[in-house]
Amino acid sequence: MRLIVISNRLGVTASVNSGGEIVFAPSAGGLASALNSYLQTGRYKELGIDDYLWVGWPGMEIAPELRDGVREKLLKEFKCWPVFLPDEVMDRFYSGFCNRTIWPLFHYFPMLTSYDDREWECYNDVNNFFALSLAEIIKSDDIIWIHDYQLMLLPELIREKFKESAVGYFHHIPFPSFEIFRLLPGAWRAKLMNGLLGSDLAGFHTVDYTHHFFKCALRISNLENNLGKIAHGSRVTKADTFPIGIDFDKFNDSSQLEDVRSEIDKLRSSFAGKKIILSIDRLDYTKGIINRLDGYRAFLERHPELHEKVILLSVIVPSRVKVPQYQAMKKQTEEMIGEINGKYGSIEWTPVIYQYKSISFAHLAALYTLSDIALVTPLRDGMNLVAKEYIACKKNTDGVLILSEMAGAANELTDAVIMNPNNRESYVGALEKAMNMPYGERRARLDSMRRRISEYSVCEWAEDFLGSLLGVYNARLALRSKYLNPERVAKLAGDYARASKRLIMLDYDGTLVDFCPLPENASPDDELLSILKKLAADEKNEVAIISGRGRHTLEKWLGGVKMDLMAEHGAWVKTAAGDWHATGVFNTCWKKEVTALMRKFAVRLSASFVEEKDYSVAWHYRACDIELARERADDLRDALGHLARREGLDIINGSRLIEVRNAGVNKYNGALNFMKSDDYGFILFAGDDATDEDIFRSISSESYTIKIGAGQTAAGWSLNSPAELLELLKKLSSAD
Ligand code: UDP
Ligand code: G6P
Repeated sequence: MRLIVISNRLGVTASVNSGGEIVFAPSAGGLASALNSYLQTGRYKELGIDDYLWVGWPGMEIAPELRDGVREKLLKEFKCWPVFLPDEVMDRFYSGFCNRTIWPLFHYFPMLTSYDDREWECYNDVNNFFALSLAEIIKSDDIIWIHDYQLMLLPELIREKFKESAVGYFHHIPFPSFEIFRLLPGAWRAKLMNGLLGSDLAGFHTVDYTHHFFKCALRISNLENNLGKIAHGSRVTKADTFPIGIDFDKFNDSSQLEDVRSEIDKLRSSFAGKKIILSIDRLDYTKGIINRLDGYRAFLERHPELHEKVILLSVIVPSRVKVPQYQAMKKQTEEMIGEINGKYGSIEWTPVIYQYKSISFAHLAALYTLSDIALVTPLRDGMNLVAKEYIACKKNTDGVLILSEMAGAANELTDAVIMNPNNRESYVGALEKAMNMPYGERRARLDSMRRRISEYSVCEWAEDFLGSLLGVYNARLALRSKYLNPERVAKLAGDYARASKRLIMLDYDGTLVDFCPLPENASPDDELLSILKKLAADEKNEVAIISGRGRHTLEKWLGGVKMDLMAEHGAWVKTAAGDWHATGVFNTCWKKEVTALMRKFAVRLSASFVEEKDYSVAWHYRACDIELARERADDLRDALGHLARREGLDIINGSRLIEVRNAGVNKYNGALNFMKSDDYGFILFAGDDATDEDIFRSISSESYTIKIGAGQTAAGWSLNSPAELLELLKKLSSAD
């Protein structure tokens, strides 16, 4: 089994050195840091994965004649497979839709978001291009792990080509609330959601992002989740929270490395007697660099006694230099640093020391080890690994982490000094608190955070995600193993043909017909009626419709076919030869009260309505605002609880309806009326929802029980849709 990791940027980025050669260096940013760390440990082997390949853009345009050489080197030295893209395309895709639309919007900067159709088209093209490139590489048993916002359409595009593969997606940035997501034009947001739903598992850093994803699935794609799983068509997508970690040991043990020690010695002598406040970020407006400088300035203003005693050491890593907002920020940042140093600095003291470059691991680890305070104050950040790396380096030295509550990391690192980056006073307060914190408290806070990040390192994160992906995948395979493929259909048809006495029982809604917003519109079409008639006309067959609908509707729609009918989940039956009769003596005293209560709910929720049957009452909300409907449904269940206990009633959660009926009425008990003998040579029952599971579980294992749609089931076989079942019934009805 091989792991295919796919991200826009590879773990290494190409550049041309002064000698004109193409060279590779580790890519900057959290995604690359985390995946490089995990893949280098080789721990994926513990999951039964033999090897990996990382597919992505090499970071610059490579001339056609150099591509073979670059590909070979990347493959041999880094296990990377490059997707070559020209600069002109990357301008619209990467500097365009990725970083001028999704990045600002998902980080809650709608004012910086552009909505350019050509860039959206290019985003589609590049995602398609990735899918095409992958088609050359992917093998049937590969596990596919797609990363981040640049490739949100890719899960579905891969799914179209590789129906059976395990496809996971991890989102490294915030997933915004629906109110933000909906700012995208309708067709874009629907396509992005559809893209993500191509995966078996979608992972997010925090529970809020996961909930936002569920809400978008509901509001945009009209799909509900059940215990974190979204069923759509014949497929299921699970979404869950996996807070990314770091390679704890690498940072924890870094001070033992020769080059780190030598960096520490150098820094120690340069900053002797000063408190070092450290910040490390890519140059990005989400990181709140300007606000932080402003906060630091206010702190200096408030505390003249600390002048010459503190230094803000700001490492800024160049990023997305072609995007105008990033260029403007560089200028603004440098001006502000100049202003602070000019106003407060002296010959002996520079209040802000600024480096604008990528730094080596040795330098990075030395800075983390030595600095007294880390000031990590993004305005919005998916996770923020710098905060975790700082803590991991504090094995023998101490320090205080100041962390913005807008970083995903704040959910885990609750012992940091948590602050709000939007307010100047918060910086002053947090810095004062950090400066004055007693040693014992500093150590206790560090130790508790170190425990957390050592226990859930990047390896645990990856294993958690991949383990969960394999779980969903295996469940899909298990369901798939029940799929009635042509070979199995042939066997079923053979058994049918051989039997001289057959029983065919069919649920109606969701099984023979798709659901409609209004239940009265789900009447059978001519084709369905003709198939049922043909089946029922065969004297070897007994055909029954097993339904929760009222008997009058069934009579109107299906009464013309000579077959058995069951209404109200078994409270009423009619045999082909006879008339309707109730299957028991049912209490109906409760109906008036329940109907009145449901009517009140119907008035409170637009487009919901009450259906009154002889022995049951249902409140339908299929065509309603689904979120409000779910809340009202919870309220209704709550309001019905006492009455149900008193009267011995069942409250059924159907497909977008709540139904109340007498306890003990169920489809299996009803179906016993149709199982008239024990010498059937062939029994088939098809159904789609929880109310059909009783029959799936209870009838003989030699019967053909068929579940329509995705999800766990006790049925022996599965088909994807009513259309597929009709195909099967048509085949049987035409058999001699
Ligand atoms: N980092 C880097 N190059 C540097 C300095 C830092 O690649 O010159 C790393 C840093 O160690 C961390 C990552 O970049 O692992 C930044 O990740 P974070 O999650 O904090 O922010 P992101 O850049 O992903 O938004
Ligand atoms: C963040 C994103 C990554 C991205 C990284 C660096 O961490 O989540 O997808 O790779 O920033 O940005 P860049 O645009 O240079 O790839």
